[in-house]
Amino acid sequence: MRAVTYSRYGGPETHTLEHDVEVPEPGEGEVRVRVAAVGLNPYDWHIYRGDPWLARFAFGLRSPGSRIVGSDVAGVVDAVGAGVERLAVGDRVCGFVGFGGAADAVVTKENRLALVPAGVSDEAAAAVPIPALTALLGLEPLGVEGTRVLIIGASGGVGHMAVQFARMLGAARVVAVCSGRNAAMVTSLGADRVIDYTRESVLDCGETFDIVFDTVTTTPLRRLRRIMASDAIYAPAGGVGGGPLLGPAWGMYRSVVAGWTVSQTVRTVSAREDDTAPEVGRFLDWIAAGDVQVMLERAYPLEQHAEALARLETQHVSGKVVLTIP
Ligand SMILES: NC(=O)c1ccc[n+]([C@@H]2O[C@H](COP(=O)([O-])OP(=O)(O)OC[C@H]3O[C@@H](n4cnc5c(N)ncnc54)[C@H](OP(=O)(O)O)[C@@H]3O)[C@@H](O)[C@H]2O)c1
Repeated sequence: MRAVTYSRYGGPETHTLEHDVEVPEPGEGEVRVRVAAVGLNPYDWHIYRGDPWLARFAFGLRSPGSRIVGSDVAGVVDAVGAGVERLAVGDRVCGFVGFGGAADAVVTKENRLALVPAGVSDEAAAAVPIPALTALLGLEPLGVEGTRVLIIGASGGVGHMAVQFARMLGAARVVAVCSGRNAAMVTSLGADRVIDYTRESVLDCGETFDIVFDTVTTTPLRRLRRIMASDAIYAPAGGVGGGPLLGPAWGMYRSVVAGWTVSQTVRTVSAREDDTAPEVGRFLDWIAAGDVQVMLERAYPLEQHAEALARLETQHVSGKVVLTIP
């Protein structure tokens, strides 16, 4: 089968589209998916670059071993292992698989795959798992109903879903921070106001928030407090920059420490990996019902994997980019 592979840390230019990779077989509790589309996430490039260094403790200190790119997939079940009960050959599914998605086939646990409803395209479904899990698991426990919510990084994969989810959870007001280029898109998704960070500091917005969901974490909590209620919740989910050692985790750790001495509560956001089918399934149902939208900047054919990943690495994708595997 075809697969986008790498065996040392580096950029997309070091990846190879191989044509004779062995097709994986599902083990107990596992399912093989014939992949139709792959959603690309910062998770992918943090791992294949080994950047930040922190990631190398999990994925290999000197080298990542032999790996296939691609963490979120959509496709059709074409084989099931022993003990698989919920899914059957022919089911359309999507889910977070960790690695191996940018290939004709990938094997993963049944509990990571949700059924894709009719009317949701493979490209849209592949774009859902990691961002939707992050937005759902990050926001839902915070008690959003009736609150004033600020979403920082509102135009990216996670942020554009978080804006819509805050709306669905009954936020009284949703204010979004992104570049002006993406303001119209984020407004169309339900933001009451968009702050263009390239022109205006969010600290000067003149509003007060009960919940701040932050995928950028470049503004320290001790400064953001100026625009937060004294009992507000700060939910850091990731970050831009942060340095070679900790990368996006830097802003999150910094806010946890800052949280020890302030009245606001810090609740770091972490997307779960296993047993994720229910949350991903809920999001897919909302898409099918027309309640939420997946914004796709562009779908690239598998052969253009390096171009698609380079675009992802700019950290300025509007919504999502995906790979398609016809
Ligand atoms: N905690 C978890 O479990 C989890 C799960 C998923 C993702 N994450 C992390 O969450 C972060 C966002 O993920 P994503 O998929 O949404 O990434 P993404 O699609 O690349 O989005 C990046 C966002 O950051 C904004 N941005 C880029 N540079 C900025 C700057 N200098 N100042 C302010 N905003 C800036 C972009 O806005 P413009 O393009 O409009 O400038 C865009 O909204 C990443 O760090 C990722 O690793 C964490």
